[in-house]
Amino acid sequence: MSSHSSNPRLTLHDLRKLAATRKLAMLTCYDAAFAATLDAAGVDIILIGDSLGMVVQGHDSTLPVTVADVAYHTACVARGAARPWIIADMPFGSFQISPEQAFANAVTLMQAGAQMVKIEGGAEVAPTVEFMVRRGIPVCAHIGLTPQHVNVFGGYRVQGRRAGAAGRLLEAARLLQEAGAAMMVIEAVPEPLARRVAEAVQVITIGIGASVACAGQVLVLHDLLGAGVGKRPRFVKNFLQGAASLQDAVGAYVADVRAGRFPGPEHVYPEAAGN
Ligand code: KIV
Repeated sequence: MSSHSSNPRLTLHDLRKLAATRKLAMLTCYDAAFAATLDAAGVDIILIGDSLGMVVQGHDSTLPVTVADVAYHTACVARGAARPWIIADMPFGSFQISPEQAFANAVTLMQAGAQMVKIEGGAEVAPTVEFMVRRGIPVCAHIGLTPQHVNVFGGYRVQGRRAGAAGRLLEAARLLQEAGAAMMVIEAVPEPLARRVAEAVQVITIGIGASVACAGQVLVLHDLLGAGVGKRPRFVKNFLQGAASLQDAVGAYVADVRAGRFPGPEHVYPEAAGN
């Protein structure tokens, strides 16, 4: 296995400073070897996403993923990557019961090697975010298409198009910022709305099918490498095509994100077009 970089771990302070000068590159990752590759390629932030339920475990949604699953993969990634900021996803059912339940599960993920946890949801999770931040857990919010709500949404659909939805998303973003979220993933919302959210908040916004106006971008690693079969969402780009190695493919993603070349117009959702 190639060794990871010897650079010190990025801090939130570093990320804010970097975001003032260029876009941030974030990717999901689930194991040590890929974590070292992402580190060597210059990825700033690694997310141990509950997408692991789909791309690693083979489920058809993220719902079966447990805290123990995310903790295991977080520990693997933390051993492989030295420089990137590490975020662990709070899986379905791990934070909805009470802020105390969320805090206890977040502690497990931080002790496994994360520096921050990510929590899906809008205004309804703001009190939980505040509870965790006040007790020392940095939080990344996740709004828009939140895959843990797939059964409520009736599929993986672009969010923010219905009457009143744009206002609710903007309000949720403001409330989550007020609650102390330091970062915010915005997933699969029309580009003009994602841009409005990114411009309305001061937290580090990370887009996926959102807008190049976000402070950074994230993709699922397997999507970036074209692994797996089936229809891919509009926001996915295969960076392995034409690359000489895995590290070059990730490096091409990092370069395109940093320069604001990814996502292009073909990777985001215009106001009125279909899913
Ligand atoms: O679980 C995940 O991988 C995610 C990203 C797609 C943002 O939530």
